[in-house]
Amino acid sequence: MKHVLTISKLTKHFRVHERTLIALQDIDLSVKEGEFITIIGPSGCGKSTLLRCIAGFETLTQGSVRVEGQEANRPGIDRMMVFQGLDQLFPWLTVLENVAFALRVTRTAGTKKKSRTLAESYINLVGLRGYEDFYPHQLSGGMKQRVAIARALSVQPKILLMDEPFGSLDTFTRKALQEELASIWQKTKVTVLFVTHNIEEAIIQGDRIIAMSSQPGRILTVIDNPISRPRTPDSPGFADIWDDLHRLLGVQKGSVGGSLRQQQRIVSYEEMETRRLVAT
Ligand SMILES: Nc1ncnc2c1ncn2[C@@H]1O[C@H](COP(=O)(O)OP(=O)(O)O)[C@@H](O)[C@H]1O
Ligand SMILES: [Mg+2]
Repeated sequence: MKHVLTISKLTKHFRVHERTLIALQDIDLSVKEGEFITIIGPSGCGKSTLLRCIAGFETLTQGSVRVEGQEANRPGIDRMMVFQGLDQLFPWLTVLENVAFALRVTRTAGTKKKSRTLAESYINLVGLRGYEDFYPHQLSGGMKQRVAIARALSVQPKILLMDEPFGSLDTFTRKALQEELASIWQKTKVTVLFVTHNIEEAIIQGDRIIAMSSQPGRILTVIDNPISRPRTPDSPGFADIWDDLHRLLGVQKGSVGGSLRQQQRIVSYEEMETRRLVAT
């Protein structure tokens, strides 16, 4: 399978109050067409910056991002982003109009009728048939994220960039959307880069899991997920990756001693992080 995305020696610095902050350093990553990759790491390790560099929203300090060999140094509809916030839809447009708007501005569908039909098919794909005339304020958080996914996919991007898209949802909705996304991915074969700081989500979703360290933001390790889909925390092999990721990320954060390791099976990464903040 060919590489759809090639990132070489990507470094991104920010200037903050006369200081240079190294958000990303020497990131090398090649992604094959149709892969589902999850990216995990502590808050501030550069996950969003990495997605923003791929999306073409940032000027790179060094290195390159190429999509099918072409330098991707500006935004394009071949790379669409879905964010964490539940306010990414236009509140004055209905579900159908939100999706059709993306199709219209990107000139993906030729006529108004075609764009309506295409919008309806993507709304159907994310399980929202019957909600076409609803406004965002009439939808639940999970439904809003479904619309955002439909809107991003409707323009048929090569790469779907997802920045903690389910991070604001409750556990039940998150689980439902994880399953939904897996099924959408299987149907569309779109390449997905999915940022999360939930370890369980990273293992369930990612066929490859990229763990990052912070300051400077680097790729710590890339894990080829050997567990076949559909994955659950009870899948054989899940606990090993779970342990590995906790150890890797915990060691990197400098916060995990031997005793905490015992608790890591039941403590979420977010909780670990909060504990550390409380402790320091
Ligand atoms: N526009 C910006 N200006 C200055 N610093 C930034 C900017 N965007 C991100 N950063 C810094 O870069 C680092 C990585 O941020 P980010 O990519 O948002 O991390 P993550 O998504 O992993 O939490 C952080 O230290 C953050 O403060
Ligand atoms: Mg982020």
